[in-house]
Amino acid sequence: MNQHPSAGEAEAADRWADWLLHTRSAGDPQYELRIQARVAQYVERALQALRLHEHATLLDFGCGDGALGLRALQHWPQLRVVFADTSMPLLRRASERAEAAGVHARCRFVHLDGSSLCAVADQSIDALATRSALAYVADKPRILGEFHRVLRPGAMLSLAEPVFRDEALASCSERSALEQAEDGEVTRLLALLHRWRAHQFPDTQEALQACAHCNYSERDLFAWTVQAGFEQVHLELHLDSGPSLAPDWHSFTLHTPHPFATSLRDVLDWECSAQERELLEGVLQQAWNQGEIHAVERMAYVAARRP
Ligand SMILES: C[S@@+](CC[C@H](N)C(=O)[O-])C[C@H]1O[C@@H](n2cnc3c(N)ncnc32)[C@H](O)[C@@H]1O
Repeated sequence: MNQHPSAGEAEAADRWADWLLHTRSAGDPQYELRIQARVAQYVERALQALRLHEHATLLDFGCGDGALGLRALQHWPQLRVVFADTSMPLLRRASERAEAAGVHARCRFVHLDGSSLCAVADQSIDALATRSALAYVADKPRILGEFHRVLRPGAMLSLAEPVFRDEALASCSERSALEQAEDGEVTRLLALLHRWRAHQFPDTQEALQACAHCNYSERDLFAWTVQAGFEQVHLELHLDSGPSLAPDWHSFTLHTPHPFATSLRDVLDWECSAQERELLEGVLQQAWNQGEIHAVERMAYVAARRP
């Protein structure tokens, strides 16, 4: 089961590795530190729900570069962690980080096929946590069934997942409103703002339904966890508004909220005429300079027990 990713495999280009290791922070070290600090908050919250004991084996599903599993290994000196992900380059990065932290002997690395946990034996795991990975799985009820299969009776499950559905619904509403709006200067600006948003979140009901990371609510996560056979299911939705984590305008224009989104910089450069670009960039940069660009983060935390 312990598939240690080779250097050759890890070098292969990978959308998730590109985003997690470079694009999400626009290549800016200060921005990356801010993101890591925010991720650490989500991870701590997810770990709290697990009631871990010293000699347990934790599975970090969609581990990325290991943020959750490595933190758990720091907290519990006897804990063992199975890092599982579809991305070989990210498994390799998690492995390198475990080596550097001196905890590699307590780790296993499992390459997933994207729709199952078939490399993990039935009832072999004492706790399972995932942060912002289930969101991207197309068939969530199926993978929750897999979580149930690999967990031992009495084991805890902890999900910490973003809810992007509201952004997608807003994008759909904007599109409908614009289709009926009279032409004018305000409409032209709103249409440009919408063009940017539509490159980040689907703007039709059909596209929304087909989008794995937009087509569910926190209540769906709750219902699917119950349906998968878990008990004592508890949901908390955290909504937090605040300024962008980007340290400056340049990084803000390069950042994307997930790897399937287009950055503002690319929308300005590739999707706008010179005149449109001047209008959109002018308005947004002024709003940025005045501290008026805010975002709302929606995180759903689901904790449950495997009977
Ligand atoms: C936003 S990153 C989160 C990484 C890590 N959990 C963290 O908290 O930093 C999403 C991760 O999910 C992984 N992923 C995407 N689709 C997946 C799937 N179908 N099965 C397992 N992992 C998946 C990606 O490779 C990526 O590492």
